[in-house]
Amino acid sequence: MSDSPRPSSQPDFWDVRYERERHLFGAEPNAFVQEEVHRLPTGSEVVELGAGEGRTMAWLAQKHGHHVTAVDFSETALATAREWADAPALSFEIVQADVRTWQPDRQWDAAVVTFLQLLPDERQRLYDSLKNIVRPGGWIFAEWFRPTHLTGTYDRMGPSRADRMVPVEEVRRAFADERRASVKAVDAKLREGPHLNGEAAVVRATVRAGAS
Ligand SMILES: C[S@@+](CC[C@H](N)C(=O)[O-])C[C@H]1O[C@@H](n2cnc3c(N)ncnc32)[C@H](O)[C@@H]1O
Repeated sequence: MSDSPRPSSQPDFWDVRYERERHLFGAEPNAFVQEEVHRLPTGSEVVELGAGEGRTMAWLAQKHGHHVTAVDFSETALATAREWADAPALSFEIVQADVRTWQPDRQWDAAVVTFLQLLPDERQRLYDSLKNIVRPGGWIFAEWFRPTHLTGTYDRMGPSRADRMVPVEEVRRAFADERRASVKAVDAKLREGPHLNGEAAVVRATVRAGAS
């Protein structure tokens, strides 16, 4: 699926991690998305890129009645997402794809990214893709580790290399032309399962899509 030699750029790397441990990043929804969900009208169409086992999409569908799509390249992660998606009366679609090359022919009301680990040039494409797949007036909610996480007094978690962490300025630049963008450096206490647990340096972006 990818030419990159880096292990974490390959679905196999993630399959092995998810096979070893179910609910690798928790079974509860991402805390930042919980804070932002009030912006979405009932029955919104929401997509998550790098959705993993689908914990946040499952919650948006179950608790809020949104129509959700979980995209990830790990078959093992998506097998768990499928268990949630199969619950009766949920509108929950699963897509196995590499988000670096995925080109959907439709749009959503909102897009979510939480802790997706891409390299700098891959992220530029991700930002363009997010702008393309969200309808004008829709929302993008995104959270990543900041490079400071590796050098400051934070707990050990997240990518092992700074180039998979995301500088605040990069995100601000990427969304500068959108209708509205709030991009914040946050020192957060994460409580999202065994591997996202403790003090963390993150960047959180809330973007209203469409030309400013
Ligand atoms: C740290 S996990 C976060 C999962 C989920 N967003 C969450 O917060 O629980 C990163 C996820 O991104 C997926 N991923 C990484 N690179 C990807 C790519 N190029 N295309 C699709 N999924 C990718 C991995 O399979 C993994 O499930």
